Amino acid sequence: MPAESPRVYATRGLPGEALGELAERARLSVWPGPGPPSPAALRDAVGEAEGLLCLLTDRVDAALLAAGPRLRVISSCSVGLDHVDLAAATARGIPVGHTPGVLTETTADLAFALLLAAARRIPEAERFVREGRWTPERAWEPDLLLGRDLHGACLGVVGLGAIGRAVARRAAGFGMRVLAWSRTRREAPGVEWRTLPALLAEADFVSLHVALTPETRGLIGAEELAAMKPGAILVNTARGGIVDEAALARALRDGRLAGAALDVFEREPLPPDSPLLALDGLVVVPHIGSASLATRARMARLSVDNLLAGLEGRPLPHCANPEVYG
Ligand code: DGY
Repeated sequence: MPAESPRVYATRGLPGEALGELAERARLSVWPGPGPPSPAALRDAVGEAEGLLCLLTDRVDAALLAAGPRLRVISSCSVGLDHVDLAAATARGIPVGHTPGVLTETTADLAFALLLAAARRIPEAERFVREGRWTPERAWEPDLLLGRDLHGACLGVVGLGAIGRAVARRAAGFGMRVLAWSRTRREAPGVEWRTLPALLAEADFVSLHVALTPETRGLIGAEELAAMKPGAILVNTARGGIVDEAALARALRDGRLAGAALDVFEREPLPPDSPLLALDGLVVVPHIGSASLATRARMARLSVDNLLAGLEGRPLPHCANPEVYG
């Protein structure tokens, strides 16, 4: 590797071939894990780096940028960028890359899987079998594990971006009526527009697909949960900070909501003593919205493409702060 090759720091190994190819074009160091580097380890590591390849578990704030005076590009292997201080990067003229598009369908698949799991009580039914409660006396009971139908029901999509639209398409295929609300009004085939309060009051299922920003933090709080149709089910594959978890736990405990299915949490990993874990009717998975082999390899490829473009002085294929280009 020529001494003049740029130095790149990656905060984790990534699935697929992309990092190997990056290693042929840059002096690449990879945090060995397990888990993410601590903020202090990351600050030390970026000291000499011209490129940073990070994940959503790495806080990229003004202090980190100050510790990396040579940084010329930041590329996150994620579509969400709530872990990056975009304004601080822009102020330094550093383009920030992310991975929209490639994970849309995979994340919509998980939202739908969670919708079905909560509606038909799949995790509860699985526990029932595994825990030996499916006994000859209960071989088939008319009222065992009764759930909700998706067909004929109404889905409210909160956030009609690419993932929200992909969920709406799936819902139409399941014979659901689809309502949507976004901060910016958008149209999509077969989708009826509503205000957020009207959507919450009418939908049997609500699925969240807005980015986490200062405006959407706590978007679904006690008041919004109380405004939901009694017996509704909430699905969140967006970001935990969009929902007030304590208020959600109360709404489930009071029986106001029939269930919820969450891939994302205010604090990740979800602490084992979280009150959420004590609630029936709650389905939890560990932030796996984009976790398919093919999609993670595509995310890695796109984040390496963004990084190489930045190092070579080209516009990033997916830049979240294009204003750095003037
Ligand atoms: C993202 O990319 O922002 C998802 O939350 C993880 O795939």
